Amino acid sequence: MMKCKKCGEKASVNMRQHRMALCREHFLEWIPEQTERFIKKYNMFTRDEKILVAVSGGKDSLSLWDILVRLGYQADGLYLGLGIDEGIHYSEESHRLTDEFARKNDLKLHVVNIEKEYGHSIPALSQMSHRGYGKPCSVCGLAKRHEMNRIARDLGYDVLATGHNLDDEAAVLFGNTLHWASDYLLRQGPVLPSSDGLARKVKPLCRFYEREMAAYAIMREIEYIYEECPFAAGATQVFYKEFLNQLETVRPGTKLTFYLRFLEARQSGALFIQRDAAHAHIRPCEKCGQPTSAPGLCSFCRMIEKMNVAVADSLPEDGDDQPYEE
Ligand code: AMP
Ligand code: FES
Ligand code: ZN
Ligand code: ZN
Repeated sequence: MMKCKKCGEKASVNMRQHRMALCREHFLEWIPEQTERFIKKYNMFTRDEKILVAVSGGKDSLSLWDILVRLGYQADGLYLGLGIDEGIHYSEESHRLTDEFARKNDLKLHVVNIEKEYGHSIPALSQMSHRGYGKPCSVCGLAKRHEMNRIARDLGYDVLATGHNLDDEAAVLFGNTLHWASDYLLRQGPVLPSSDGLARKVKPLCRFYEREMAAYAIMREIEYIYEECPFAAGATQVFYKEFLNQLETVRPGTKLTFYLRFLEARQSGALFIQRDAAHAHIRPCEKCGQPTSAPGLCSFCRMIEKMNVAVADSLPEDGDDQPYEE
């Protein structure tokens, strides 16, 4: 029987990368303690600042909200309605669970529906802009980033927090490394400082494994959406995650070391020369004011504009489904 490192009782969670097992009670203490440690270590925010937690209805972001509130931080929620209603009514169900969590815990939740706000759902936008923007996930990512930034700024929050866990971060890092995407590698980390009117962005769960967050949510009896977004299947990120999990099985700690050594190497200046010049030509979008390197409109506003033109131009007999190429 695996024993809890703190009390010697039967352990519920074994964390091989830390060579540590904990019982339910101690695991539920350990997760917020560690989160607090990461918040301080990376200077994420203080108890005086107003935090907006982006909540998707999944285990990570709901747990993050739960942890921050337990730690005594001022954290409100933001749910973005993406209009993804294929199969299991993904958006509807994740909205319901987020709403329920907020109500149960008496927390403030802002809800913004992208289709209502801009007239087009994510699946519709992704079909139209396929050529320019690729799979629905990239349109969705663009829209989520834009809206999170906009709302955090408009509502006067100091910080925007997302529920990205170590599995997410290691998979993104792996992809960026495979492509030596230096601009992304320079920016990836637990904290993205505020700039040009954008709120600071933080990822307080970036050092927890996905399975730890699932264990936390279940032990805290948080009801979350189990299903992945229906578009996630086959995404490159999913493949990277599976691959990293295979490495992890053979060598526990691989994911954590990969991520932490990257952060250390970058901070020491061993990886890249910090290029401020990359920032030189950033200017505000003419429509929404968010920083962009493109002249005129930012990518999100350009996408919406293009969609509006496409809808205005379409004749009734053109109403057939657009072909969708992979
Ligand atoms: P994902 O991009 O789906 O891996 O989600 C990463 C993080 O983005 C989540 O942990 C949330 O913090 C945030 N997020 C994703 N989807 C939504 C949504 N619909 N509304 C608000 N936040 C979201
Ligand atoms: Fe955005 Fe799946 S959550 S495409
Ligand atoms: Zn214990
Ligand atoms: Zn814009």
